[in-house]
Amino acid sequence: MIYRSISTLKWLIFLGLLTACGQTAVNPDEQLRDIINMHQLTGDPSQGRDLPRISDPLAQLGMQLFYTQALSGAGDAACVSCHHPLLGGDDGLPLSIGVGAADPALLGTGRKHPEGALVARNAPTTFNCGLWDEVMFWDGRVESLGKTPLKNGGDGQGIHTPDRVFHYADPEAGANLVEAQSRFPVTADVEMRGFDFGMSGHNGSDIRNALAANIGDYGDGAGTIPSNDWLLFFQSAFNSNANAEDLITYAAIAHAIGEYERSQLFVETAWKAYVQGDDEAISASAKQGAILFYGRAGCAACHAGDFFTDEQFYVTAVPQIGYGAVPYDDDWGRYSETGDEVDRYAFRVPTLLNVEVTEPYGHDGAYQTLEEVVRHMVNPETAVAAYDFNQFDSSIHMVNSKEHTEEALAQLHENRNKNVKTLMSMTLADEEIDDIVNFLLTLTDPCVKEPACLAPWIPSELLPDPDGLRLDAIFQN
Ligand code: HEC
Ligand code: HEC
Repeated sequence: MIYRSISTLKWLIFLGLLTACGQTAVNPDEQLRDIINMHQLTGDPSQGRDLPRISDPLAQLGMQLFYTQALSGAGDAACVSCHHPLLGGDDGLPLSIGVGAADPALLGTGRKHPEGALVARNAPTTFNCGLWDEVMFWDGRVESLGKTPLKNGGDGQGIHTPDRVFHYADPEAGANLVEAQSRFPVTADVEMRGFDFGMSGHNGSDIRNALAANIGDYGDGAGTIPSNDWLLFFQSAFNSNANAEDLITYAAIAHAIGEYERSQLFVETAWKAYVQGDDEAISASAKQGAILFYGRAGCAACHAGDFFTDEQFYVTAVPQIGYGAVPYDDDWGRYSETGDEVDRYAFRVPTLLNVEVTEPYGHDGAYQTLEEVVRHMVNPETAVAAYDFNQFDSSIHMVNSKEHTEEALAQLHENRNKNVKTLMSMTLADEEIDDIVNFLLTLTDPCVKEPACLAPWIPSELLPDPDGLRLDAIFQN
């Protein structure tokens, strides 16, 4: 069992101790060793988990599926369009561009859509996505019910998805959150589905079944992919002789994609080495940053445990940019799931592992640099007041951004008044901000910055392409 949070009482005692210690100069390593014990950190959030390796046959099949544009309605987008390993497991854009891109193969900040960014939110990284236990998505609309108190009834077991009423399990969700999540990008029009998917029926199951039939080359899907070798790949990965109708279902596709994503484990950080006893693993500034993070700056109250998230939802008033999810032109985040007033503008706490490479930041990518988003987390009022609402070109819809950001800030203040856990405000010196940023930089696994190390998660040119629709990305700023 990994402890992600500590009780409020312990936290108060701990803050008290820190204040007491502040009187005398304490060796930062001693201070941090106490913090590490207090928070029961191991440095390794993957401990006790059974995650696949990228060399596993199902993860290999999942990689091929993750890169194929055959899972999009018009053959112009793949999962990897928005989650490329060389872009930190995301797309480097504030708001993603899926179908209809000017050049579908072009990834990175040069990716454009004639109508601008239509996707509602910033793409989170797929790196370490096998470590989420409770929720996926910024609003948690894919959710493990076993861990959630039954606020509104529901059946309390399994995995909830947007295909079911809130708090009810989706019997088709599959074995884990990642697998459940991978059922939804293909049904979202702006992500992969497109706007003129020529097929009967419009609900999620119809679309998934049609895509599986295309990949499996059976039924109405027969012949839709001219050169189609998928059956051989499925038979080999599942070690089965079954025919395409039985083997190539969307559930099997989701399972394989999930195995690929869950194999993306990148947790070998300098901070881990430090937690596990190497005093030399991080710089003096990063140590001061860690002391602030776990102490006075209060970050660990939400970015808790070895995965740096408590998987809960809080209002932080990160500026609202883009069209948003629900309602149109705004984004109420968790409120759209729960309908609780305190959840209006609340978003899931992101992990901070590898945060160095997952820019831009926030649910809508409103902040380009780590320093900016850290300044926001330290003092949302001054950050919002200083935010440049004119910094983007016309590709990002900004019509009501400022008003909605102010509404989010008002919600934050209301939550504070009601004693609902939310972001506090404080003043830190510039040097202290630098220290926190330097601490966050110790949460990078060097592998995520080295193309050679990431190569196993990218199909090589030598690997046979099952359908000739593999997205071979080009990168351009
Ligand atoms: C158009 C870009 C785009 C495409 C294509 C896309 N995604 Fe995403 N992905 C996103 C965005 C944006 C989010 C966040 C949406 C939200 O939270 O409401 C997301 C969320 C996720 C998450 C949740 C991560 C987390 O931390 O909660 C996973 C996992 C994921 N996508 C995997 C996939 C898979 C698998 C596919 C292909 C089947 C895919 N994505 C296709 C943009 C994309
Ligand atoms: C009350 C809970 C809470 C506290 C305290 C908190 N955060 Fe956050 N943090 C969040 C939430 C929620 C988000 C996502 C907000 C959004 O996108 O709307 C976030 C986002 C971030 C991000 C952006 C990550 C990404 O991938 O987009 C960073 C970096 C960050 N926080 C660092 C910090 C630091 C450093 C502190 C302490 C100074 C801190 N946070 C304090 C809840 C918190």
